[in-house]
Amino acid sequence: MSNKDYVIDRIKNSVVSNDPWKHVVIRDFMPPSLYENMKKEIITLESHACLKNKNTRAYHIYVNKSVNVYPDTGYLKEYYDLFLDEDIRNEVLKKLDLTEQPLPKDFYSEANFITQDYIYDEVHPDRSDKLVTMIHYLADEGDDESLGTFLYTPYKDGKTLDVFKDMVSSTPYVGNCFLMFAPKDTKECRTNHCMGNNSKKTFVRKSIQAFWIKENADWTQDRQSGRNRI
Ligand SMILES: [Fe+2]
Repeated sequence: MSNKDYVIDRIKNSVVSNDPWKHVVIRDFMPPSLYENMKKEIITLESHACLKNKNTRAYHIYVNKSVNVYPDTGYLKEYYDLFLDEDIRNEVLKKLDLTEQPLPKDFYSEANFITQDYIYDEVHPDRSDKLVTMIHYLADEGDDESLGTFLYTPYKDGKTLDVFKDMVSSTPYVGNCFLMFAPKDTKECRTNHCMGNNSKKTFVRKSIQAFWIKENADWTQDRQSGRNRI
């Protein structure tokens, strides 16, 4: 089976959960050898000095399609070629019931690192300029599985929710596990989520975040406040 067929098969055979709101978790999302190899290319970032400190968030931009930003190493290129493949994108849109929506124009992705004691600012639904939010966990063997993405009730304003006390469930922080959802921010449904690292066991939580964006957007210029660009 080709790598592309593998990913399409994983998406097609995944289960949609509606608890507490619609999302899809896919284990073994990428072909294992491609996953291991691209992870080795990313892990070189992990030795950055800022990631020795607690309560730190750092990111590295790999792709911003509309401004022609792409990775320059082989396995990451192969990895993002799959993400950007039209057939794979269409399977994602189908799974999330987005086929009636205009096709997304842009794609953005970064590696994200948060160290022990870092808690994201607040429970939030994600901005509505994102058509699809995708998170690929890069956990190591033996890491704390509770460091996935925290999920909350869709019926309340995230700002009123407590990151730990109000969490309904969390997706598994397991290597090569993947989460995707279509952000919603209406009274009927808010895709409330958050992330943090309160683990005693795992010092750095690592993930790839990727978004299909409705319009072209250059997110390489934004200085993300309080975060280290590496
Ligand atoms: Fe988010």
